[in-house]
Amino acid sequence: MRFIQHKQEAYWFYRVVSLVYDRWVNPLFWTPAMRDRAVELARLEGAKDVVDVGAGTGFTTEAIVARVEPTAVTMLDQSPHQLAQARRKPQLAAVAKELGDAENLPFATDRFDRYVSAGSIEYWPDPQRGIAEAYRVLAPEGRAVIIGPVQPANAIARRIADAWMLFPSEAEYREWMERAGFADVEVVEVAPDWYTRRDVPFAVAIAGRKPVAGDSPAPLAPVVEPPRAAPTPVRLARFAAGSLAGLAFVPLGIAMSLRARARRGTA
Ligand SMILES: C[S@@+](CC[C@H](N)C(=O)[O-])C[C@H]1O[C@@H](n2cnc3c(N)ncnc32)[C@H](O)[C@@H]1O
Repeated sequence: MRFIQHKQEAYWFYRVVSLVYDRWVNPLFWTPAMRDRAVELARLEGAKDVVDVGAGTGFTTEAIVARVEPTAVTMLDQSPHQLAQARRKPQLAAVAKELGDAENLPFATDRFDRYVSAGSIEYWPDPQRGIAEAYRVLAPEGRAVIIGPVQPANAIARRIADAWMLFPSEAEYREWMERAGFADVEVVEVAPDWYTRRDVPFAVAIAGRKPVAGDSPAPLAPVVEPPRAAPTPVRLARFAAGSLAGLAFVPLGIAMSLRARARRGTA
C-alpha cells in the first residue's frame, strides 16, 4: 500500500510533521548516536562539497557541519516547511538550502565529493532513481551514504509500516546501490537504544564509492510522479490513511523507550 511513498503525500505529511519533528520524531527513531555512527561512514574528513538530500530540519546536517565547513554543505528537501525549521538553526545559517526532488536533483553531474541522505529514501516513489541521482551528482571517488529503515520483524508493525511507506530489506538496499554503479558497498546497522532485537535490523546506513565519472549505469524508468499534484479525493484518503499509520509508531516508540528506561532503572 505505502500510502505516503509519494511526493505529494510526503509534502503534506511534512507540512504537519515539521512542527513536531525535532521534538517527537528524532529523539525516538533517529537518535544522535545512530546519526553519528551513520555519518562516520561518509568519511567526511577533508570533504569540500557535501550534499544532504532529504535534509529536512537539518538534524543530520548538524552532524555534517560539526565535521565540514558549513559553507561547503548544501541541504536539499522537497518540503519548504522542513527547510523553514532548518533556517531557524544558527549552526546551519551558512549552509545552502535548496528546494528540490531527490529523484531529479538540480545539481551538475560529478559535482559533490560526498552525498548523505538520512531517512528520506522511504518516501521516494522510485528509490533506484534516487540512488542513481546520488551516483550522478558525485564526483569520481566520491562517497554516498544512505540511511533508511528496514522491514520490521513484528507482523503487526510490518502491516502498519507497509501502509505508511517503504521499509526495504537490507538486500534491496544493496541491490539498488550496486545496480546504480557504486563500488565497495558497506552496510552498518543502526538502532535506538530501546530496540532490543538482534536478529532483524531496525535501520541501515549503506555506503558506496563512485568509481567512474558520469551518469549511473542503472537503467531507469522515466520519473513517474511530479513533485506537486492536485489534491484529488483518492490522494487525500491515501494521505489520511498513511499519516495515521505513520503516527501510530510514535506512541509505540514512546512505550518501547519507557520500557527500556524502566528496565535499565531496575537492572
Ligand atoms: C524523516 S525526514 C529526515 C530528515 C533529515 N534527513 C534528518 O536526518 O532528520 C525525511 C525528509 O525527506 C524529505 N523528502 C521526502 N521525499 C523527498 C523527495 N522526493 N525529495 C526530497 N526530499 C524528500 C521530507 O520532506 C523530509 O524532510
